[in-house]
Amino acid sequence: MPNPSASPIGNPISEIQHLQHRHLLGLETYSAAEIRLLLRTAREFRSVLDRPIKRVPSLRGVTVVNLFFAPSTRTRISFELAEKRLSADTVNFSASVSKGEPLKDTARNIEAKKIDLVVIRHKSAGAPHFLTRCIDSAVVNAGDGAHEHPTQALLDAYTIADLDLPKFLDADGTNRLARGDFSGLRVSILGDVAHSRVARSNAYALTKLGAEVTFCGPRTMLPVEAETLGVRVTDRLDEALDGCDVALALRIQLERQAGALFPSLREYHARYGIGLHHLDRHPDLVVMHPGPVNRGVELATEVVDHERAVILDQVTNGVAVRMAVLFLLAPGARE
Ligand code: CP
Repeated sequence: MPNPSASPIGNPISEIQHLQHRHLLGLETYSAAEIRLLLRTAREFRSVLDRPIKRVPSLRGVTVVNLFFAPSTRTRISFELAEKRLSADTVNFSASVSKGEPLKDTARNIEAKKIDLVVIRHKSAGAPHFLTRCIDSAVVNAGDGAHEHPTQALLDAYTIADLDLPKFLDADGTNRLARGDFSGLRVSILGDVAHSRVARSNAYALTKLGAEVTFCGPRTMLPVEAETLGVRVTDRLDEALDGCDVALALRIQLERQAGALFPSLREYHARYGIGLHHLDRHPDLVVMHPGPVNRGVELATEVVDHERAVILDQVTNGVAVRMAVLFLLAPGARE
């Protein structure tokens, strides 16, 4: 059983031991203290992933259902692995086995089999919220339309907290980022921000932890409500990278290119893609991407494989973060 207070992530003054929420539908309503608790707990589980036997009994007897009504490879596999690492019993349901039954009926039918947690990905924003009104189990949003993707933002925050950036070392040698204090950190989120659940969840998480966030992309891809998210907006990549610590490039959804949000992939890369010359110009810049990367579009292929790209760390950390989410939302966790 992890002990979140034993981890370096978190402010000792405001540490909490339980989530205030019953579900993880998004990070908009989560407090900084809850986010830090999730990161501290993930830190404990991250160490499990380096052991020869990568399994703990924390969720033995707990049943988790993965409802994936929209495509996913990374998130689905990451949740499935997290559940196995916690010794939970799991059931997987994907759109391919759907018979057109309404979501409410599918969910109630599955819950009648006595389950505890539901992980849902759906193409419609708000589907996880709807589910909470139909069933009693705790619900985890694995991505709902263009709304939120909270576990992606949590794994991104975890990966940032793990960075060894000299600028964030205090006089006593401790790393502020590792404590979940992101003040002074500048993160630029690049690409199709307007249609991105990853960008929205990251904006909530990063600003709550104290970071300054900039959205950057073609005007057609920038959201109108950016100010309400407390982020800066620019359509100039050089402006976004100036003084930036972390550049988080979003995946261009090639299917949306039919809507002509920008003239061509070549032009997109020329104006908004990160190349080796950007890494040369910004020697401390760290590059992140939620995947899957379109090589040569969001990032030059040399950047994807560069030591300052932490994309595979994000993937590994994602399993630990999802273990923390499931553990803290499981029955009994709030007692
Ligand atoms: N990063 C992410 O959400 O990937 P998937 O769509 O493959 O789950």
